[in-house]
Amino acid sequence: MRLLSTTTPVVVLLPLLSLTTAYTPLPDSLFSSITPPLPTDFDILPSQPLSLLSPLLIPRVPGTPGQIRAQEHFIKFFTKNLPEWEISWQNSTGTTPVTGDKQVPFQNIILRREPPWTKKRGPGQASLLTLVAHYDSKIEPKGFIGATDSAGPCAVLMYTAREIEKELVKMWGAQDGGKVEEGEEGKGKRGEDVGVQILLLDGEEAFDRWTDTDSLSLAQHWEANPYPAMSKFKNPMRQISLFVLLDLLGSASPRVPSYFQSTHWAYQRMASIEGRMRQMGILKTSPKEPFLPDGGKNSTQFESQGFVGDDHVPFMARGAPVLHLIPTPFPRVWHTMEDDGEHLDIETLRDWAMLVTGFVLEWMDVGKGKS
Ligand SMILES: *[C@@H]1O[C@H](CO)[C@@H](O)[C@H](O)[C@H]1NC(C)=O
Ligand SMILES: *[C@@H]1O[C@H](CO)[C@@H](O)[C@H](O)[C@H]1NC(C)=O
Ligand SMILES: [Zn+2]
Repeated sequence: MRLLSTTTPVVVLLPLLSLTTAYTPLPDSLFSSITPPLPTDFDILPSQPLSLLSPLLIPRVPGTPGQIRAQEHFIKFFTKNLPEWEISWQNSTGTTPVTGDKQVPFQNIILRREPPWTKKRGPGQASLLTLVAHYDSKIEPKGFIGATDSAGPCAVLMYTAREIEKELVKMWGAQDGGKVEEGEEGKGKRGEDVGVQILLLDGEEAFDRWTDTDSLSLAQHWEANPYPAMSKFKNPMRQISLFVLLDLLGSASPRVPSYFQSTHWAYQRMASIEGRMRQMGILKTSPKEPFLPDGGKNSTQFESQGFVGDDHVPFMARGAPVLHLIPTPFPRVWHTMEDDGEHLDIETLRDWAMLVTGFVLEWMDVGKGKS
């Protein structure tokens, strides 16, 4: 994550799609059926073999063994626990300001879960709610861990995948390939097939000074790789229904404002989920202000919060609607050696995991027909 940039204009290329069409709010019964993170999930001790988080609490600089260990952790988790999720990579190499001519590998990991019938029909058939965090860490200061930046957010997404899978299987059919026939289930707001993908991005932090080209490669690559002509979506870029970027999460009392008018409606959905979860007593924290304080504002009321340069930039420039979950101000530990496991507020991280899971379940319309 980088400093606020006041010079980058906010370019909203998207026409305001009819994305605001009402969808079914998640029923209380589904909120209560979410299994909260286990104590082991966000354990920071390296000796905890079941922790989603602790294997990531190491330096994860591109081209170093720490980064490979982080990759292995993700792949092992998805292979073992979530075999229905399709794993793919987008690898490239590049030079950086501090490594000179040396080619550094950048390896993005894509984890995708689509309704079984769209998968059978071929690529590019389902819209994809896209959940994103970067897994690399800064080279400086030496030994920097980046627990909020973004080991914590990556672990939150792993939990989310595990938790939503149970509901997706119920909705889409059995694990052995699922329903062959397309059903009402899984139809989204606009009657389209809805899937979900997680992007674990590399090269976000760069090595010294961030340049706009660092995280270009996946968005660029996707736009340049069209699907076959009969596909519903032209290329993987176009499949992104919403790009939800988690960054710098895991410090207590975060304040995440609404950054974009065009996605304020999605922000409001998540804020409303936060309100309901707090009311139901299923969140652990009780901050003075909600994590998402702008839920009650209408889209003309909130002030522009400035623009935070981050992984979403190349995707947004290519038309993806972005919900940016990053606190303003940044955590106190930001880009210091203190951004480590000991300085995380685990209950806050746990509550983010619950919120994101609730948001995804609602988006996938898991609650349709239930009360
Ligand atoms: C990308 O790199 C990873 C990690 O080295 C490797 O496992 C994977 O096979 C590579 N994938 C492609 C498509 O190059
Ligand atoms: C948004 O709120 C402001 C202030 O309360 C109000 O004047 C305005 O009409 C509202 N706009 C919409 C679209 O509801
Ligand atoms: Zn950072």
